Amino acid sequence: MSKKVLLTGDRPTGPLHIGHYFGSVQNRVAMQDDYDSYYMVADVQALTDNFNNPEKVRENVIEVAMDNMAAGLDPKKATLFIQSQIPQIAELTVFYSNLVTVNTLKRNPTVKAEIAEKSELFGREGESVTYGFLGYPVSQAADITFVRSEVVPVGEDQLPMIEQTREIVEKFHRIYNCSIFPLPQAKLSDSPRIMGLDGNAKMSKSLNNAIYLKDSPEETAEKIKTATTDSETTISYDPQRRPGISNLVLIYSLIHNKKPGDIVKDLQGVTYSAFKSRLASDLNAHLTPLRNKRHELESKPHYIKEILEMGREKALKKAEETMSLVRAAMKINY
Ligand code: TRP
Repeated sequence: MSKKVLLTGDRPTGPLHIGHYFGSVQNRVAMQDDYDSYYMVADVQALTDNFNNPEKVRENVIEVAMDNMAAGLDPKKATLFIQSQIPQIAELTVFYSNLVTVNTLKRNPTVKAEIAEKSELFGREGESVTYGFLGYPVSQAADITFVRSEVVPVGEDQLPMIEQTREIVEKFHRIYNCSIFPLPQAKLSDSPRIMGLDGNAKMSKSLNNAIYLKDSPEETAEKIKTATTDSETTISYDPQRRPGISNLVLIYSLIHNKKPGDIVKDLQGVTYSAFKSRLASDLNAHLTPLRNKRHELESKPHYIKEILEMGREKALKKAEETMSLVRAAMKINY
């Protein structure tokens, strides 16, 4: 029996941090044996809100590819490619854009939150939201469907994108009287979301509160040492009331593959500072193989480019197969 198709990806806007790693990268690595896996570096999507900063996007294409490979994504098993190298995705985006109303896009909860964030930074909504940005869920539907993907491992914030994709697929089939695509399903990782080390709900580069996979052991230890906790003296796991310390317990539990509520029992009578050094040394030990692999990859930029080139060829083949079905269904196969 042939394997089900899986596709996922990252926007290349910065190196990956441990939130990405425990939340989604580990998940996709675990799934690569059982699925025909495609991993996409979403440079076109990154450009929707970084169009004026193409250098940043370009630099991070290789960074995120290396982070994923260092974490165990294996080019012998998964197809790694760059979004902009598959023009059929752009073509499919144009066709799908007829099937989605502007109001639906404005109501998309993830897009809505991002627009609110931007309006805060840049002023009035209408002046900061481009047509391309508003439409990125449509383009993401094209990402997912051009390989006719069935499974999409993502974080919770991406659920509206998968839902939008399902709506587009159903509408496409109904209007063009065909059945080309499987209905894609999200696959969420079951580990809770890691917060920023400053207590912010999100670990993110722009907030400067993240531990990167590529950080040195010293940087990692320093970041943990200065992470926000509270003025109590006992360690517990109570994310609502004690978010800072609970977040560190969560990271500790993920390293040791246990539930945070269970591992906290091992930390009774341990001081915050002793716990922080234990956490730093365990996290560094956990990440050592990955960091070694990353250093090795950094010394072979040509190898990464070759992998992405092979991935491009394979993804292009699949894209042409899909597009010939799509063009026939839409009666534009002249
Ligand atoms: N939107 C995703 C993110 O911000 C990245 C992405 C682009 C993606 N295309 C995708 C994820 C297709 C899954 C499937 O992280």
